Amino acid sequence: MEDFLAISECSTDELNALLEESRSLKAMYKSGRRDLCLAGKTLAMLFEKPSLRTRISFQVAMTDLGGSPIYVKPEDIGGIGTREPVKDIARVLSRYVHGIMARTFEHRTVVDLARYADIPVINALTDWSHPCQAMADALTIGEHFGRIEGITIAFIGDGNNVARSLAFAAGKLKMKLIIASPAGYELDDASIRVANGFAPGCVTQMSDPRAAVTQADVIYTDTWVSMGQEDEKDKRRREFAGFEVDAALVAAAPKHVRVMHCLPAYRGFEISDEVTESPHSILFDQAENRLHFQRALLRKLMS
Ligand code: CP
Ligand code: NVA
Repeated sequence: MEDFLAISECSTDELNALLEESRSLKAMYKSGRRDLCLAGKTLAMLFEKPSLRTRISFQVAMTDLGGSPIYVKPEDIGGIGTREPVKDIARVLSRYVHGIMARTFEHRTVVDLARYADIPVINALTDWSHPCQAMADALTIGEHFGRIEGITIAFIGDGNNVARSLAFAAGKLKMKLIIASPAGYELDDASIRVANGFAPGCVTQMSDPRAAVTQADVIYTDTWVSMGQEDEKDKRRREFAGFEVDAALVAAAPKHVRVMHCLPAYRGFEISDEVTESPHSILFDQAENRLHFQRALLRKLMS
């Protein structure tokens, strides 16, 4: 594995090895021991969009492994692909640092960075996917259920970047993903076909949130208005009415159900405050596991 751009591009063995390494690095981290495998290594972190979790967890992960992160806002370098082409940024950074992580609008940007860089490139969220999130989520599911394979996730809401990465994770790690979205906001058929190509029937789509959760081990949701869609906020909030993960929806699921959200959560829209704060919620375990998965990823790609 040279880059980490999409779960669909990784083998099941590679993903399981990353999860195993995440567990062992997490145990080491909790015991206060450190592994300075990235001493002398530098990671450039390029962000076209805001971030709390991704930025801080990568920065902490890199520092904890003995390396140095450099945070780069688009305005610092005159935009990614604006002041100079993406392929030149990739080649220049390859002469200075040992890895690039990038959060960009277009997925094409991270693909081009990886194509022209001769150092590892990590997708830290694009409009198309959020693979680090879905892997941290798989790690969290494994911790809560003692297994990943065979777990049923009901994803309620927008068929967006997070849903797509969960679909690929479902295919590769043999989970079942049922997506319930309003008309016009479904995950695209091509992505569902790709996921189902990894494990036939692992991803299904419907329009009724209640029907989606009846067999769910996990109810998962994400914002209805992703970064870059702010102009559509009012329209989206109207069209997603009835898709809130609230106490009534949780009550329609099995009693053991856990609720997940990649955060940031917009309470009163895609998730209620009551559910966010309820014992079903494992939102902050997910957020924590971003750190542990990314330590494993950085170690794998950069040490
Ligand atoms: N979940 C997630 O990626 O959060 P940030 O946007 O804060 O990084
Ligand atoms: N779908 C959201 C995820 C945020 C972590 C977005 O792209 O804004």
